[in-house]
Amino acid sequence: MTKPLILFLPCPAGVEEFLADEVYGLTGLAGNDLTLLRGGVRVSADWHTMLRLNLMSRLAQRVLVEVARGPYYDEQDIYALAYDMAWETWFTERQTFRVDLTAQASPLRSLNFAALRIKDAVVDRFRDRTGGQRPSVDTHAPQVRVQAHLTVDYATLYLDTSGEPLFKRGWRQDKGDAPLKETLAAAMLAACGWWQPATRQVSQLPLYDPCCGSGTIVIEAAQLALGLAPGRQRGFGFEHLLPLRDAERAETWRALRQQAAAVQAAPGAQVRIFGSDVAHRMVDFAQRNAKRAGVSVALQLRGGDALQRMPPTVEPGVLLMNPPYGERIAVAGVAGARMGRQRFESEYEDEGEGEGVGAGMDEGDQFFLRLAAHWKNHYAGWTAWLLTPDRQLPRRLRMSASRRVPLWNGPIECRLLRFDIGQQKEDGQPKPLQRPP
Ligand SMILES: C[S@@+](CC[C@H](N)C(=O)[O-])C[C@H]1O[C@@H](n2cnc3c(N)ncnc32)[C@H](O)[C@@H]1O
Repeated sequence: MTKPLILFLPCPAGVEEFLADEVYGLTGLAGNDLTLLRGGVRVSADWHTMLRLNLMSRLAQRVLVEVARGPYYDEQDIYALAYDMAWETWFTERQTFRVDLTAQASPLRSLNFAALRIKDAVVDRFRDRTGGQRPSVDTHAPQVRVQAHLTVDYATLYLDTSGEPLFKRGWRQDKGDAPLKETLAAAMLAACGWWQPATRQVSQLPLYDPCCGSGTIVIEAAQLALGLAPGRQRGFGFEHLLPLRDAERAETWRALRQQAAAVQAAPGAQVRIFGSDVAHRMVDFAQRNAKRAGVSVALQLRGGDALQRMPPTVEPGVLLMNPPYGERIAVAGVAGARMGRQRFESEYEDEGEGEGVGAGMDEGDQFFLRLAAHWKNHYAGWTAWLLTPDRQLPRRLRMSASRRVPLWNGPIECRLLRFDIGQQKEDGQPKPLQRPP
């Protein structure tokens, strides 16, 4: 029996449990084979599982195979660990590679120097075994990526089987200004409960992103609803690795790929996923992205201001978005330049939202206050989930969050906040909920 592979799947802080659920849902692995760590999960698996996780995971940033691990005191120990590793069983001196290094509490003074020593060890080992031939370094588009991780006293070396990070699904050409990473959009879908990664189910509730930008959240959701594999349109690092030249493994990969390609969106599928944006350029981007991602039939994308758009379904559902904040709102929609502050203030006074409520507010405040009023008027029964780094958002909305899930947008600490939209009272009377017949 071949030795199992030890895989490490990194993910942003806060996503570990969702990722563990996803790995369980995709592979059935649990117990000692699936360990939750800070910043990722560790999986004991076979080759088939490694291939499947690359193809199917929406939450992992990469799938790394652990190839060496040992204690270290200084850079020389790290060099020795890397030199003793049989790299020639994974790639050849004719291929290009790069080394990346991450660390947690490493006492070494220069992590760059440690990475350089690993590169030297790989090169020296090839040179010593091939009579002087060595793989070249290519930092831009390497065929092989070596990843090292240092803790306070242990070094671990990995080969990256993904290549380009997994958030690159292969469908995005139109980016927009501030697109979410696809992995973060998937984490939002898991955190709000619309997607259950452990059971691989999606909710029957409608999903709507009223500030959809280039469409990341709704495209991820639509791919999930249609059962499309996130990696079906991209290549992977393992395609360059020697163990994948083994006929049986190559055949396993061919079969997995073929299976993923065979899933097609059926025309006439019921649309339960909706996106809109005030910027028509963004809606264009989202439409083109959706087409490339194979989800146009399951998705409705429209232009329009979030402050004016009515619910896309009679039945209440889930609003999921990362709203704009700060200066950007000033130019978008009715809360921005077109409307002007004076008229906005008087509208709010009319609606009885409080005396002088518009006075002294920035455009962000105005936008969110209007958004909350619009939701209370028209979206009763919906649940809104907003990803934001803005701790003041509940105050701006004048709503209290019923849940706060910490998530990181790259280096920015955010919260995914849940707001349960209640009824707007008119003349003290509760407004009836609109339900389908
Ligand atoms: C942070 S971006 C969302 C990015 C998006 N999740 C993506 O992945 O591309 C915020 C979006 O809100 C849009 N926006 C700004 N004001 C708006 C408004 N009043 N109504 C609807 N959309 C608005 C912007 O055009 C921008 O695309």
